[in-house]
Amino acid sequence: MNGDPTTTPAHACNELAHAEPRASLPFVLEGSVTLIGSSPVIVRVRKLIETASATPCTTLITGETGVGKSIVARLIHLAHLGDQPFVRVSCGCMSDHLIEAELFGYEKGAFTGAASAHRGVFEQAEGGTLFLDEIATLPPHLQTSLLGVLDDKIIRRIGSEMNRRINVRIIAATNADIEAAVARRRFREDLFHRLDVLRIHVPPLREHREDIRALWDYFVNTLGSHDGRRFRTPDEEHDLLVQYDWPGNVRELRNLAERAILLSNDSTLQPSLLLRNQAAQTAPVAGNAGEARFLPLATVEREHIRHVFTRMSRNYTRAARVLGISLSTLRRKIARYGLDHAD
Ligand SMILES: Nc1ncnc2c1ncn2[C@@H]1O[C@H](COP(=O)(O)OP(=O)(O)OP(=O)(O)O)[C@@H](O)[C@H]1O
Ligand SMILES: [Mg+2]
Repeated sequence: MNGDPTTTPAHACNELAHAEPRASLPFVLEGSVTLIGSSPVIVRVRKLIETASATPCTTLITGETGVGKSIVARLIHLAHLGDQPFVRVSCGCMSDHLIEAELFGYEKGAFTGAASAHRGVFEQAEGGTLFLDEIATLPPHLQTSLLGVLDDKIIRRIGSEMNRRINVRIIAATNADIEAAVARRRFREDLFHRLDVLRIHVPPLREHREDIRALWDYFVNTLGSHDGRRFRTPDEEHDLLVQYDWPGNVRELRNLAERAILLSNDSTLQPSLLLRNQAAQTAPVAGNAGEARFLPLATVEREHIRHVFTRMSRNYTRAARVLGISLSTLRRKIARYGLDHAD
């Protein structure tokens, strides 16, 4: 795409010309459907959400992992069709056969194991929104089927002769470079254009660092309020958070807030200590750049597990949760690193 990826050519969505703009949108909503940020790039994303929710046109949300694409999809839906179903299907985590059955549904006896009829996600989302997440991973033959559905607005369950007309708003998202997939012929160009009617590009967090403070405070307040505690984060800690590059974007920030709260002994948070642990995996530990030595990953892992396990009072369940690994994996690693009897 040329130019600014968060803007959309006026001709791209004819319905926009006739759409009623909405005066205001509920950007702060219950649960986790809240888009925090006041930077120019987030303000632009909000405007595009507003545009998208004023019209039923197909919308493609792009951006790196963890930037907030799922929130954007839900906000469009809530502002436009809030009382109707919102159905999300992840195209990336199912076998070809399962995705097809999931998308289009099937009749009883359509294949071995089809003990009863099943409504596909298009039918489940009738009147509302179907959110096709990780769209770039959709297998080629299903790309063809999807293109047909988008053109005709008709689906047919597997094993059925009957056509069903559908009325569903489609929002697709991807964290992959979908233009590159099109160029490499991994993704159908016609389907890409059919989805890319209105484009919303959500920028990575390092491109709107001015929102980091508000995001951090939001996560700390909401996560901390669960156990009735209030925390403060010193200014110098905020500065370090702003300098960090956040490869995992807002999701990484949120997870860091959760870990900082769980690991804190008092009400003052020191997230940079956890950032330093992460950075230790790539930072040289001695010498100049030419002689840089790196810590082996196992050393960093052992040290980090030891630290968390000790801070969690050697409680396996809590430590596994903080580390984001299963209990059995934690037990195995603790035994391997000889931490079961260490201080
Ligand atoms: N601007 C934001 N304000 C508040 N929370 C946010 C924001 N952006 C992201 N988050 C939170 O960060 C986490 C990741 O966001 P989300 O799941 O929407 O990312 P994504 O872009 O869909 O990532 P992926 O490509 O991996 O699916 C979620 O917990 C979400 O609530
Ligand atoms: Mg997502």
